[in-house]
Amino acid sequence: MMGTGMRKKTEHNRAWQPLINAARAAMKNAHAPYSNFRVGAALRARGGKIFSGCNVENASYGLSNCAERTAIFSAVARLGPAMEIDAIAVVNEHDAPCSPCGACRQVIYEFGPNAVVYFHGATGWKPTPITDLLPEGFRLK
Ligand code: THU
Repeated sequence: MMGTGMRKKTEHNRAWQPLINAARAAMKNAHAPYSNFRVGAALRARGGKIFSGCNVENASYGLSNCAERTAIFSAVARLGPAMEIDAIAVVNEHDAPCSPCGACRQVIYEFGPNAVVYFHGATGWKPTPITDLLPEGFRLK
């Protein structure tokens, strides 16, 4: 017999494992020679399609793009500007705490005001609504 705790865990894995796998695969393509901190992200868009991305750094450091925004921009390129993020997972090769940066939070919010973000926080892995990470996110309309 499966207890409630076990069932919850199974549901959790079923929801997040495909995103974590896609994020880990994308992470391997990261261009991170300056920080040596490879990051991967994968999102599930409304409708079920999964898109992934990695961080892409530049010798002019400030031009670097985070894994989250790479994944989001790739999804918009494929699905168009109505693309909506239901869930997004972020992984890194060191399994270090790594929450989306402030810029990425705002970009996640633009395309997914109801998105849930799965990342390695200070106290471990936990799914967190973007609105908890970015209270009062900016919208133009
Ligand atoms: N980075 C991400 O790609 N996502 C995050 O959530 C945190 C930071 C990248 C940016 C940079 O290439 C490297 O990690 C070190 O900051």
